[in-house]
Amino acid sequence: MDDKGRLSRLTSLLRRRGIVLPSFEIYGGVSGLVDYGPVGARIKRRVVNSWIEHWGNVPNVVEIDSPTITPESVLVASGHVGEFNDKMSECKSCGGTFRSDHLLDGLHENPDSLDSSELDDLISKMGVKCPSCGSQDWLGASAMNLMFKTSIGAMGGSRSAFMRPETAQGMFMLYPALYRHFRQRLPFGAMQTGKGYRNEISPRQGMIRLREFNMAELEYFIDPENPPTTDLSRWKRTIHMLPDPDGPHPNEVDMPIEEAFETGIVRHPTVAWFLAMTMQFLEDVGVEPSKVRFRQHASSEMAHYASDCWDCELSGEHGWIEVVGIANRTCHDLESHEKYSKSGLLKGWRNFETPVKESREVLKPEGSVIGPAFRERASDVSTALSELKDIPESLPFTLSLADGTTVEIEEGMVARVLQETVVSGEYFIPHVIEPAFGIDRIIWHILDHNYLELEKEGDEYAILTLEPALAPYDLAVLPLFAKNGMDVMARQVLERVSSISGTIAEIDTSRSIGRRYARADEIGVPWAVTIDHQSLDDGAVTLRRRDDQKQVRVDVDALIESINSNSLQSLF
Ligand code: GLY
Repeated sequence: MDDKGRLSRLTSLLRRRGIVLPSFEIYGGVSGLVDYGPVGARIKRRVVNSWIEHWGNVPNVVEIDSPTITPESVLVASGHVGEFNDKMSECKSCGGTFRSDHLLDGLHENPDSLDSSELDDLISKMGVKCPSCGSQDWLGASAMNLMFKTSIGAMGGSRSAFMRPETAQGMFMLYPALYRHFRQRLPFGAMQTGKGYRNEISPRQGMIRLREFNMAELEYFIDPENPPTTDLSRWKRTIHMLPDPDGPHPNEVDMPIEEAFETGIVRHPTVAWFLAMTMQFLEDVGVEPSKVRFRQHASSEMAHYASDCWDCELSGEHGWIEVVGIANRTCHDLESHEKYSKSGLLKGWRNFETPVKESREVLKPEGSVIGPAFRERASDVSTALSELKDIPESLPFTLSLADGTTVEIEEGMVARVLQETVVSGEYFIPHVIEPAFGIDRIIWHILDHNYLELEKEGDEYAILTLEPALAPYDLAVLPLFAKNGMDVMARQVLERVSSISGTIAEIDTSRSIGRRYARADEIGVPWAVTIDHQSLDDGAVTLRRRDDQKQVRVDVDALIESINSNSLQSLF
């Protein structure tokens, strides 16, 4: 079959079968916004559930749910108000606006890493034409913040806010509750799935660049001095990696994750662990492993909050596309929120292996002198002396009291002594390792990698070979004819199947049995059960397997039992 039209045939299948469709289409649609239809919403739900289950296997991880509307102050502290920008170039002739780096696609290795003047120079040198009108006359690249602005409350008393650009900030805001929940012990993590918003300059490529999109993120809070590790040797599969081109291992490699960590390609043990977990998840949801690669960011490309970052990219009809980012966000977020909020709560406690004795010089008040000198203020003076952080080298000096007043401390009022204390540990700002998944992009690639176009007896037809756990229906129930008792038996089978927890079945009675098999195949239903005349006599049905279209005759009770025990394959 003609490969050039594959993308448009897949897109048209997605629309026709209610998987993914443009939003607001009867009003002309809005680019960057899509709907999941009745079939697609089910696939999406199952992908999200698989993600939650997968990351729930990391010790001490809980799910949270926080608002999408976020006060401006939070996003000032996180750096998004100042730095969450894309460069935009405007055509002087038609006023069209485009992402500057997209205008240079194919003309530079990594246009995303260029600053405004480098972008302008290259656009001019390459004679880049406006995609709308063909002019080569451009205004200089300018930064456009990608967040959707909104406000909370009525006009006069309203507060500036934004639609969240990432779910991650919700986890940082909840850090004190998480720290309490985990009884003040790191590491722990919080994960969240939900909408994120980015006002993309010129969205394109369907589900790849959306203005409102589905995210799934885990923030794993760790003590940077004791980073959690796992046994990396249990992941045997090799991982395709493109390390930092400016780092010590600039060449593309294929190796198991343990080796990648030991050779220093992956720099952090928890990042290595999460790279392997990501690869495993993608395989589990039916992404083709040969179309996965992990690309380490060069330092010029890193997000404002990250110190080491890997993109997981998938290859498909739109080329290599970033679908997951795994970032070592260090203490960037908690430290900054601590600075702006002054909450005093965004920290962890680390016990020393053995408590340490500290001796420090203190100024001990001479009661017989201080009392008469300061009378009713004498005890405030003693308290201020005991809280003094920097001991003055010489006397006299001016001491500040808690009520804001000062007193002069003179020779003879205090004695210099060494005080011994035992310190059992210290406070620190936890670091964060974050795997962040773009769910829509992953769903697109699952659909792309599992869309097979076949020919049977001269007819073309398509199969979505979805993993059974992600299929919109587990089973299609197909009475050969919707009459003569076959319809009644089909409804009985449907009821029995549907009563099995987690199992979703549909009944289809329209047109020929061949058409119905084809309809089930093209939305990825892994099993079909046909009820024919003979079924009414012997209580047996025909079970058909999507992937090879093999059929077996099976008793209804045995069928139900096999669905129950998840062993339909064993019937073949
Ligand atoms: N939290 C990762 C991202 O915003 O892409």
